[in-house]
Amino acid sequence: MSRWPEYVQIKEVGPRDGLQNEKKRVSTGDKVNWINMLSASGVKEIEYSSFVHPKWVPQLSDAHEVGRKIKRKSDVTYSALVPNMKGLELAFEAGIDGASVFMSASETHNKKNINKTISETYPVLSEVIQEAKQAGKHVTGYVSTVFDCPYEGIVTPEEVLKVCDKLLEYGVDDLSLGDTIGTAVPSQVGDLLEVILKHIPQNKIIMHYHDTKGMAIANIMESMEHGITRFDSSIGGLGGCPYAPGAAGNVATNDVLYLLHGLGIKTGIDEKKLQEAAFYIQNKLGKTLPSKSLAYAAAQD
Ligand code: HMG
Ligand code: MG
Repeated sequence: MSRWPEYVQIKEVGPRDGLQNEKKRVSTGDKVNWINMLSASGVKEIEYSSFVHPKWVPQLSDAHEVGRKIKRKSDVTYSALVPNMKGLELAFEAGIDGASVFMSASETHNKKNINKTISETYPVLSEVIQEAKQAGKHVTGYVSTVFDCPYEGIVTPEEVLKVCDKLLEYGVDDLSLGDTIGTAVPSQVGDLLEVILKHIPQNKIIMHYHDTKGMAIANIMESMEHGITRFDSSIGGLGGCPYAPGAAGNVATNDVLYLLHGLGIKTGIDEKKLQEAAFYIQNKLGKTLPSKSLAYAAAQD
């Protein structure tokens, strides 16, 4: 029996996590074309934008229009980031299959990111989760800073578990655990998952790695060793959190596919089509994206 899973599920977060940190504005039409390319690549879930306050993340202020204009495939789940009831109402109007709520395991990052303490955030998210569930939507709870906080340093697995338990109690379907600043090494991943998986089934856990220190692929390997089969990633390695200074983009979907397909793990995603979508957004942004497999592909042309 292989030590690796047969299938791994990737959520493409490039249009949200990827773009939210980019200063150069991408037009709504270009975003829509790009998301349609992603839909055609075989990705089964796309986080298409974010219904946060437009002043906080100007790049995604057209979330509503993007949601209205993208061509939806019936076998793709289209989700969006939602911070509060106002965001949820807008997301409902624009069309979502899934709502992603978010908060941090560390107090200071939570405050800087969503202007509330952890305990002030709970009732807000509780209402959002309840409403989204009542409307039949899938709800994912992001927990940020699960290893390190840019302001407070090390975050313990017990602090992370506390937030996870609350979000599950409010009714999220699953949890995405974020290495927001991309600094974790595999031993930290192992330590966290050992605690979390004693309490929460592994099919409810998604790992969300940023790649600031180049450890994300190693961390994905470690996560799979613990039975995790769901990951978030961003095409080309685009991205970062505007409220986590210096944090790089998510692990590049292109590099994750190279790894997984090389290990004989299925994803249902066509690497070539995803590459074309990566080159498309790279051209629109006018800069080279960090993905190593994309750079290699560019050198072959
Ligand atoms: P606030 O200023 O505390 O909000 O912001 P408020 O509730 O006090 O309302 C103030 C005004 O904003 C009101 O308008 C509201 O209507 C309006 P006024 O009455 O003054 O005219 N407002 C909104 N407008 C549009 N859309 C909304 C909305 N909500 C309120 N949704 C808030 C609180 C959460 C809105 C703000 O802090 C915010 O938008 N933060 C988002 C920050 C962000 O997007 N960060 C990046 C995403 S998280 C991430 O990247 C991590 C992740 O990838 C995982 C990982 O890597 O770890 C998920
Ligand atoms: Mg992120």
